[in-house]
This record gives sequence, structure tokens and C-alpha cells, in this order.
Amino acid sequence: MMYSSNLAKEHKNSLNLEESSTLPQIRGVIFDMDGVITDTIEYHYQTWQQLADEEGIPFNREANEELRGLSRRDSLIKMLGDREIFEEKIQELLDRKNRYYLEFIQTMNSDQLLPGVENLLNELRAANIKTGIASASQNVHRVVDRLGIRDRIDVITNVYNVNRPKPAPDVFVYAAEELGLLPRECLVIEDAESGIEAALAAGMWVVGLGPGDRVGQAHIVLPNLEGVHWSDLLLAIQSLR
Ligand code: G6P
Ligand code: MG
Repeated sequence: MMYSSNLAKEHKNSLNLEESSTLPQIRGVIFDMDGVITDTIEYHYQTWQQLADEEGIPFNREANEELRGLSRRDSLIKMLGDREIFEEKIQELLDRKNRYYLEFIQTMNSDQLLPGVENLLNELRAANIKTGIASASQNVHRVVDRLGIRDRIDVITNVYNVNRPKPAPDVFVYAAEELGLLPRECLVIEDAESGIEAALAAGMWVVGLGPGDRVGQAHIVLPNLEGVHWSDLLLAIQSLR
């Protein structure tokens, strides 16, 4: 169930391929983590909800959707809306939220890998394609270790390695540099609107996971990675020519 949008084709032209007959050479796949590799979105929701309840801030699942892909700090600022609070209090809230979240992480293991992820990682290794994770999460190393996939990931970066968080392209550009690849040699797999925007701005190929109203700007849109093979993704990108 893959499709490419016109916008995707326009974007492809902007990738400046030397010859229109040249097939894209994808040498690396950069994954977002939360919502792509593992469903920590639910843990983030529950811990934000707990914090919001304690502080009397209105919050629900719908509001949580707006936080997908944002850094912890940007998420809190969005939750607070017009409320003005001191930096010290902001820091205390961020630390408290993370304490709750770390408790969830302790319970994670490879069962929390989303369907299709492990198989895809194995296929990428077999095909000699480099792999990276570029996440907005400061906990990315911890989560990757709990999931037991560290041996199949070449580079792990988060937005704290760079100046600007997603939707700025920085974290993807940085990951590509660390992999020793050009942006157009990288395929990003993302579930958040801010992440899709970031990857497109970086000049990379993008697979969006989720509903079209959230990830429709991506070159390829899929519900998730279940049953998705590397050969399928490669063919889909090459058919965008
Ligand atoms: C991901 C999630 C966000 C989360 C952010 C920060 O991008 O999609 O919902 O707020 O990471 O995670 P952290 O582990 O640093 O609190
Ligand atoms: Mg995500």
C-alpha cells in the first residue's frame, strides 16, 4: 500500500539528481525512534498525563498527539500554553516527567520492538546498508539498549547533539555526517510531522508511518513497518523517478 505524492516528486527534483535516468543510491537508513522502532509514545502520554494532573494542567490523548516528535522541553512549553512559570519550575517539571518515564523504560525489552523492525534491521545489515537512529529523545541510548538492537545500529544521535530540534534538519544532517553519507543517500523513516519536515529539509528520502494527514508529505506513506522488506522500500523509492 505504497503511494507517492506529487509533492514527493517535486521534492525529488529538488534533490538535484545529476541525471533523471540515475537511480537513487540509498546507502543508509536513519530511523526515528519513538513511534517507529518502539511505541514509547504511550509511555510519554502516561507520564505527561500524570504530570499534568499533578499540576492541574488540562491534558488528554489528543493534546499528546501534538507533542509527537517534539523535544521534552518543547513539549512542556506547548502544554503550558500561556502559563508563565519560572525557569527553575520548568526544570523541576522536566525532571519529574523524566523520572516517571525512566520507570517505564526499566520494564522494556525486545518485546517492545514494533512489528517488522527487527526483520528490517537484519535485512539492512545483510544488504550492507548503514543504519542510524536520530531521535528527539535524550533517553535514546537507554531505550536502544533495552530493546537489544545496539549491534545493528551504526550511529545514534539525538537533538542534544545539535543546535536546533526537529523540524530543523540538523539531527538528520548530523546523523548522515556521522554515517559518512550524503543526504540524498539517506532514507529516513519517521512518524511525526515535525520529523518528516526535518528530513525533507535535510534533502533526504522519507518514509512516513501513520495517517496521511500526519505524514502525507513523505515520499512514501505506510501504516507501519509490519511485513515491510528492504527490497520493497528500495523499489518504491526508485519508482518515484
Ligand atoms: C520523542 C517523542 C516525544 C518526546 C521526545 C523527548 O521525539 O516523540 O514525544 O517528547 O522524544 O523524549 P525524552 O526521552 O527526551 O523525554
Ligand atoms: Mg517519532
